[in-house]
Amino acid sequence: MADVEGLRNAKRFAEDVDFSNNGDFHVKGAANLDWGMKDRLSRIFRPDTKKTVMLAFDHGYFMGPTSGLERLDLLIPRLADYADCLMGTRGAIRTSVPASYNKSVALRVSSGSSILQDDLSKESLVVSMEDAIKMNASALAVQTFVGADGQKETIEALNQAVNLGSRYSIPTMGVVAVGKEMERTTRFFLLATRMLAEFGAQIVKTYYCEDFEKVASATPVPLVVAGGKKVSEEDALTLAYKSIQSGAAGVDMGRNIFQSDNPEAMIQAVNRVVHEGMSDKQAYEFYLHLSNLTKETV
Ligand code: R5P
Repeated sequence: MADVEGLRNAKRFAEDVDFSNNGDFHVKGAANLDWGMKDRLSRIFRPDTKKTVMLAFDHGYFMGPTSGLERLDLLIPRLADYADCLMGTRGAIRTSVPASYNKSVALRVSSGSSILQDDLSKESLVVSMEDAIKMNASALAVQTFVGADGQKETIEALNQAVNLGSRYSIPTMGVVAVGKEMERTTRFFLLATRMLAEFGAQIVKTYYCEDFEKVASATPVPLVVAGGKKVSEEDALTLAYKSIQSGAAGVDMGRNIFQSDNPEAMIQAVNRVVHEGMSDKQAYEFYLHLSNLTKETV
């Protein structure tokens, strides 16, 4: 291990230079992977836009029935058409999502904590590879707590998922966790996203931060940005816009979609930002327009 004394801060990110090892494949850092991995990644990241809209509804695995997610069986059919990938637990997907939707699935495979505890960082790999294969998962999602108490066990869980996923050509999505006491600085996200990519995660889910271009540039796999706590529709679309403009390959949005006044309109507006490069202002106008249409037809 390198001596950390006298460590120099990283500076040369060459943010304006495209990733150079993509070959003819559209997903960053995946050119050297095998056919099965590429096929699964192509179900998540659209080959025409190279981006993805993931709908996150895995909150119940540690929070119970969060606002907006009380009835997954009623919610998901309203939104699935506008998502490229559904992110959820095996229990939620098996019980409440028709298999005929034929959507890619980012399967939550780590857990171990609940909101009844202060420390949520104690997670391990809990879903077997056999079950992930039976769910036809396009990716395995593993929460990883860098800098928290559960760092070692969650790093081990992530590496375990990468080892098993590689055996069956299922990509792993490393999820950067931010606990109550954890910093949300550019320095932290640079560290965490790069660590997860170096462990072999083929996708990294993280949060937007200042200088996100640097974070995207220094991470050799696609970054997908989480929505985070509910904010106004306008602000959530600005978050999506800034993320895409700064190098994110998509969003993995939950509460800002399903807790929106109009979840269908919101996910369609997010789609326009991610796949069509619509500005946040235009997307908000689009959201208002769709919402008004819905009101008129009710
Ligand atoms: C939370 O634990 C899950 O990983 C969520 O999938 C993630 O935080 C994205 O959902 P939201 O946009 O609501 O933050």
